[in-house]
Amino acid sequence: PAPQNLLLDRRGGAPLATAWITLNRPAALNALNDALMDELGAALLQADADEGIGCIVITGSEKAFAAGADIGVMAGLSYADATRGDFITRNWETIRRIRKPVIAAVAGHALGGGCELAMMCDLIIAADTAQFGQPEIKLGIIPGAGGTQRLPRAVGKAKAMDMVLTARTIGAEEAERAGLVARLVPAASLLDEAQKAADAIGRQPLLAILAAKDCVNRAFEGPLAEGIAYERRQFHAMFATEDQKEGMAAFLAKRKPVFTHR
Ligand code: CAA
Repeated sequence: PAPQNLLLDRRGGAPLATAWITLNRPAALNALNDALMDELGAALLQADADEGIGCIVITGSEKAFAAGADIGVMAGLSYADATRGDFITRNWETIRRIRKPVIAAVAGHALGGGCELAMMCDLIIAADTAQFGQPEIKLGIIPGAGGTQRLPRAVGKAKAMDMVLTARTIGAEEAERAGLVARLVPAASLLDEAQKAADAIGRQPLLAILAAKDCVNRAFEGPLAEGIAYERRQFHAMFATEDQKEGMAAFLAKRKPVFTHR
């Protein structure tokens, strides 16, 4: 069935195309309910499996990337409901299984689960209108989709504590200075800039892209020595790929490489 809360599109093609996933629940500022998160997980898995796709972009509207988990739904939850239903974990963790790069193109509000969803992506490109925050504390809860873990890794403990404890929202410039955001661009060019970044990824040999993403993620999840050892094995494995032969031969012959993703 076609998704009700997402717009799906395929753009670019350089030579691998980009899967665009636009969160589309405008009446609720893209509040992330179960139906939307199920559809998002399915769309991500489909793009990850699609041989013609090299990169995925998740975006929202000009007004909101996403204003968080759906408060209307959460209002009625009990502790038993949340725990027994494994609230959030069931369908919010799919994105962690995605091996291709995922870019978040963020304009407007990225609050609570919206900020957390952006942080689950591999990099954030922000419009100058973007606002990031973890205002859950005002609702009597805490960030529940990784915010207390990913935010300090992205912006450091001091700013993470500030945002999580006081509910202060930060603008795009502060977010870029703090390291939450990879690129800050004018709102009018957000989608173009995201497509350019996706094309830059789509031009690269896919096997190396998958290994590179996997290795950078290790930097957040384990001790340095293990990360270095993991990286070194992946680095060695690249010499078994046809694209390594092609990439280096093309460089030496001063011609453009033609990658086959093998
Ligand atoms: N859940 C459900 N509905 C939401 C929503 C949310 N998170 N955010 C906005 N909406 C709805 C509003 O209820 C409103 O609906 P109606 O028109 O039917 O009344 C509609 O979207 C438009 O919102 P506003 O009228 O509030 O728009 P605004 O421009 O005045 O304010 C805003 C925008 C500052 C983002 C404000 O909507 C807001 O504060 N939203 C809630 C932000 C929030 O607290 N997010 C955290 C949620 S908890 C969480 O995410 C848990 C987790 O860690 C996973």
